[in-house]
Amino acid sequence: MSLIDKYPQEVKKIIAKYPPEQKRSAVMPLLYLAQRDEGFINKTALEDIAQMLEISSTEVAGIVGFYTLYHDKKAGKYRMQICTDLPCALRGADKFLEDLCGNLGIQVGETTTDGMVTIESVTCLAGCDKAPLFQVQSGDGLEYHEKMTVDKTMELVAALRKTGREVKP
Ligand code: FES
Repeated sequence: MSLIDKYPQEVKKIIAKYPPEQKRSAVMPLLYLAQRDEGFINKTALEDIAQMLEISSTEVAGIVGFYTLYHDKKAGKYRMQICTDLPCALRGADKFLEDLCGNLGIQVGETTTDGMVTIESVTCLAGCDKAPLFQVQSGDGLEYHEKMTVDKTMELVAALRKTGREVKP
């Protein structure tokens, strides 16, 4: 089903916010909408957006690839993105990531066998003095967790697995 068929009101509302000659600026909110249900932007949605905004699907794919909050592949219900950029690495982010993956029994980029948690390594999340830190994304929500330990993170994972709650938008 196309994005406009799935969310007719939301799509119209988003596009109406921009002057017709600048409708390409609607690409970000449309991508956000497209990602809401499945946690990633499928090829159909990507092409729908390109067509609606009269830009190429390559341009849309470029935006998806550039931003850590957009995804082109399915992942677990919760996508945990740990910053391993240099300032965070100097504060132990690499070791944190390695130990967390070890506790979850997965490698970076993989999803736990219950389909709940995917671990990813990302660049700066603008909290460089608060490492180890990560963002958790699910649905249209996003939460930040700073100054974390592996134990605290595993408690968070256990709570998310138990409740299945959406993270805060
Ligand atoms: S380098 Fe990790 S938050 Fe900035």
